[in-house]
Amino acid sequence: MAPPAVAEFPNDTKPVVAASVMKLANELTVLPEKFVKAVGERPVTAHNDYCKEIPVISLKGIDNESERARIVAEVGRACADWGIFQIVDHGMSAVLMKRTMETVLEFFKLPVEEKLKCAAKPGDFPVGYASGSHRASDDVLDWREFMAHRSLPKAIRENDISTWPDKPEHYRKTLVEYCDACDGLVTALLGLISESLGLPTNYIKNFVGGDDADQKMILNYYPQCPMPDLTLGLRSHTDYGTITVLQQDQVGGLQVYNADRRKWVTVEPIPGALVVNLADQLQILSNNKYCSVMHQAIVNSNHTRLSIATLSNPNAMSQMGPAPELLSAENPAKYRTYKFKEYLPICIAKKATNHCDAVAL
Ligand code: OGA
Ligand code: NI
Repeated sequence: MAPPAVAEFPNDTKPVVAASVMKLANELTVLPEKFVKAVGERPVTAHNDYCKEIPVISLKGIDNESERARIVAEVGRACADWGIFQIVDHGMSAVLMKRTMETVLEFFKLPVEEKLKCAAKPGDFPVGYASGSHRASDDVLDWREFMAHRSLPKAIRENDISTWPDKPEHYRKTLVEYCDACDGLVTALLGLISESLGLPTNYIKNFVGGDDADQKMILNYYPQCPMPDLTLGLRSHTDYGTITVLQQDQVGGLQVYNADRRKWVTVEPIPGALVVNLADQLQILSNNKYCSVMHQAIVNSNHTRLSIATLSNPNAMSQMGPAPELLSAENPAKYRTYKFKEYLPICIAKKATNHCDAVAL
């Protein structure tokens, strides 16, 4: 069967949605060439071959002095060894987590014409619905559909929310509740991470702009795929901001690159748990003590998969770089300072595969 025409866009001025990947998944038995990754980028570890060593940390007793010391130590080790960990007993309502997943799934199951009412507009990234890739200029597409929202600070959300889906009916209300809950969790996590670096509890929260920090939600829907070994649901990347909290269903597909073992390993879905991964600004702030983990999502031929990534980013004007309190003659700065809004343009201009390298000294 000839691969279906996926529109070719010469530049980023054309619409971003090439074709609904979900629609392709339901119609095709052969993977269109546009989605075939280069040999070295294809999956090597199965979506359900779970790595049991990625830390799972209980936050129970976070406000109790001795328990907190245990939690801070575990978080510090996880940030240094993995850059990713899972949390349980985190206090986020199980009902809210479930309701949010169900609501998002309902959105993706709407007819494509309905979803396209919220289509990302050229130059508008990262807001709206897109499929395959958010950059019209990408040569090879990812096997996913997604929706991106600017969810914090509140003033930005209030400005954007009329562009969020109005179907299903309770979509906006549920997502607002969910992203505010994530923000509370992020404040707690940044407190633990600050303490694990020997910094005051509020240090990182203030460093990234306090209540003016930015948050984005990326809702990822990965349809089943006719040839999952040839493609990725989401290409390998590090998150560029501060920290990401991810909720996934029980299918499996999130993988992280373990530098020590030089291999990709799959994160085990644990009911009720949230995945936490460090992003570039924490690697830089910690002067490489902690790592911004390289990760990707793979797909499979039997099941669709859903994940909700809540990305916490510094305020655009916040000054980034290594925390001066951590530097010394033995530990000189490995990165320069810059305003957060300059970070992505610098990475793009330097074509840095490893983003942090773009601001390395
Ligand atoms: C992301 C991301 C992973 C996943 O949206 O940045 O890394 O499992 N998602 O969907
Ligand atoms: Ni990511």
